[in-house]
Amino acid sequence: MSDLDEVITALAHHLHAAQHVTVLTGAGISAESGIPTFRDAQTGLWSQFDPEELASPAGFARNPGLVWRWYAERRIKACAAQPNPAHYALVDLAKMVPKLTLITQNIDGLHQRAGSQDVIELHGSLHRARCMADGTVHTTWDYDEELPQCPDCGALLRPDVVWFGEYLPVAALEAAYTATLDCDVFFSIGTSGVVEPAASLPRIALSRGATVLILNLEQTTAARPPLFTIHGKAGEVLPRLVSTVRRLRA
Ligand code: OAD
Repeated sequence: MSDLDEVITALAHHLHAAQHVTVLTGAGISAESGIPTFRDAQTGLWSQFDPEELASPAGFARNPGLVWRWYAERRIKACAAQPNPAHYALVDLAKMVPKLTLITQNIDGLHQRAGSQDVIELHGSLHRARCMADGTVHTTWDYDEELPQCPDCGALLRPDVVWFGEYLPVAALEAAYTATLDCDVFFSIGTSGVVEPAASLPRIALSRGATVLILNLEQTTAARPPLFTIHGKAGEVLPRLVSTVRRLRA
């Protein structure tokens, strides 16, 4: 048995016994759908674009047209992308455990398109816009407009995403903390874990006695229960893990 097989088998047993599994995902889970991550060298969005210009309230105030063009392009790419085996594995896992809470930092909507329900979106969504005047959220707007306007009052709309220097949506953050404190297994998948407060969730889960898996391309494979790390692709590792849980249940 390889190291990875051993870690997967150990984790599958924890999942099989779990009452509540909480999963935090980041850009890495959508990488195999062709959506760029933020911090991977060469391909990461923040190696090509300036977050101060494109993802901050000051950048939007300076040049809303530029910011809207960037988000419109990302929204079109997200709509053209398909969920990958990692997204689907989480849908399957949710059916195998008594409770699964999915928290994502992603704004691409791919978890929902794969079939995940009640996804907690910590950083908003590319598929929503918000009125600058009164905060009303819209799920459709005139996509051809360079500066889309609120269909109710005509004020400028902004993407309903969290920008640098902004607070996370309170209800989403509270739900994320509650699920992190309550779970017995916690997964962190495809996130570099550098952006707070999401970055602290695995540590909070560990401190509460949960079994924690960190899965991304940068960690080394090791099992030091209760903290497991796997270096691998989410689209390959998660389906294997879910198949192993399925066999345990059979
Ligand atoms: P990052 O780009 O910081 O990290 C992506 C992580 O995914 C890295 O650790 C990669 O190793 C890993 N990765 C890449 N491909 C993978 C694959 N196929 N399978 C598994 N892991 C893979 O993205 P996030 O951690 O999501 O915030 O970034 C967090 C936040 O920073 C984003 O939500 C965004 C950004 O600024 C806002 O825009 C508010």
